[in-house]
Amino acid sequence: MAGLSTTLACSSLLLSLFLLFSSFSAEAKDILVGGKAGAWKVPSSQSDSLNAWAESTRFRVGDSLVWKYDGAKDSVLQVTKEDYVSCNTTNPITQYKDGNTKVELDRPGPFYFVSGVKGNCEKGQKFIVVVLTPRHRYDISPAPSPAEFDGPAVPPTSSASSFKGGLVVGLGLLASGLLF
Ligand SMILES: *[C@@H]1O[C@H](CO)[C@@H](O)[C@H](O)[C@H]1NC(C)=O
Repeated sequence: MAGLSTTLACSSLLLSLFLLFSSFSAEAKDILVGGKAGAWKVPSSQSDSLNAWAESTRFRVGDSLVWKYDGAKDSVLQVTKEDYVSCNTTNPITQYKDGNTKVELDRPGPFYFVSGVKGNCEKGQKFIVVVLTPRHRYDISPAPSPAEFDGPAVPPTSSASSFKGGLVVGLGLLASGLLF
């Protein structure tokens, strides 16, 4: 009896840990640019720059960037890489000036944003967000080199299933650690 209830407790703990895990990875978030109110401005130093913030933040497909600012004084321009580098604001991809801007990161890859205020991009009010491809986080095998295409086919599921196996074993160890 005791053995059975321990097994049940163990499985339900495993299940809830697994659900917790899955919900963390699936949830789309609204991400406030700069991590705090009033961050859409010319940075006071390099460490205060929005790129420093962006490099320490994880962005996933489906997440949204949110800007809060005074729409009468500033704006948000999404631009090409070239226009980002040269701070050319004459022909943005999209322009936002409502003071409460939300942009969904709807694909993997880089997004470039600059301020629409003349001169502010040059002073560092700009940043790059790089959205990871979803499979990037799970595919732990290296990309095949061209030479490998001549070799024998490797079942593509092997690395994924061993990763899953490792996860279950890891969670099992964690669960027994918590219980005993
Ligand atoms: C800015 O980009 C526009 C087209 O998008 C181009 O016509 C213009 O010459 C560029 N300005 C500079 C200073 O490069």
